[in-house]
Amino acid sequence: MKQTRKILVTSLKGGVGKSTVSAALAAAFAGMGSRVLLCDLDFRSRSLELMLGAADRSVFDLHDYMTGISDAAGVIIPVPVRSGLVAFCPAPDEDRMVEDGGENYSRLAGAISDLAASAEADTVICDTGAESTTPRTLARDFADTVVVVSEQSRTSIRAAEITADKLSAINGDIDTRLIVNNFDVKLANKKARAGLLEVIDDSSIRCVGVIPHDDSIPLIEDSGVLPTFGPVAAAAENAARRLRGESVPLFRGVGNLRRRIRL
Ligand SMILES: Nc1ncnc2c1ncn2[C@@H]1O[C@H](COP(=O)(O)OP(=O)(O)OP(=O)(O)O)[C@@H](O)[C@H]1O
Ligand SMILES: [Mg+2]
Repeated sequence: MKQTRKILVTSLKGGVGKSTVSAALAAAFAGMGSRVLLCDLDFRSRSLELMLGAADRSVFDLHDYMTGISDAAGVIIPVPVRSGLVAFCPAPDEDRMVEDGGENYSRLAGAISDLAASAEADTVICDTGAESTTPRTLARDFADTVVVVSEQSRTSIRAAEITADKLSAINGDIDTRLIVNNFDVKLANKKARAGLLEVIDDSSIRCVGVIPHDDSIPLIEDSGVLPTFGPVAAAAENAARRLRGESVPLFRGVGNLRRRIRL
């Protein structure tokens, strides 16, 4: 039987685009025919049900599933993407996750695996908040791949490095990759922000994707639609293909970015 791909999307730094990248990767994998389970595991400040336009259908959450209040069908929300579907599971609030003294965290990996089996998912994408407990738990018990998200600022790259170090100390076999998000080509060209080579050079993590800055992303997210076309969707598809082991250029289909970019 084909193994399920288990991707943890993380960074200790807030606001770098973990949820945006998680949603875009989920849409990209689903658009390529994968069966995707997307789990919101940001227990402090969940956001994906809004980005996916699934807020009014998010009745139950992962904690309800772990405690038997809901079955798998109740917590898995199907979100249409192009010709496929993303199976989405909303996050519980942190207070409920910690209420039984950490037991819930030890049951997390098993619960997600069971949900993935119910959804017949071949790809699981876990979005996390800017904290370390959940990523550590998933790195130890669940994920085979860590996608660390960073913007092009040095503080964000440093946070990515720290994140990757902490998680590989927990699981030395985990495959750790960098996605540079919100990459601003105009500012890089004006030398106002770091160029891509500087970013990659500053990081020891292998880069698997570069998602460009796109002014329309906050609007798209507010309207609850997954990005399935445009530069962010194209860049996410390239990253998804590279995560699948295909050798595709970082900027394939990403407008005229390739020509304009200052490397
Ligand atoms: N490539 C991009 N282009 C333009 N805006 C972006 C891009 N990526 C993310 N953003 C915007 O940046 C903000 C933060 O993104 P997001 O919520 O995905 O970050 P996060 O790392 O998940 O944050 P948190 O740490 O709070 O969970 C959002 O308003 C989002 O719309
Ligand atoms: Mg987030």
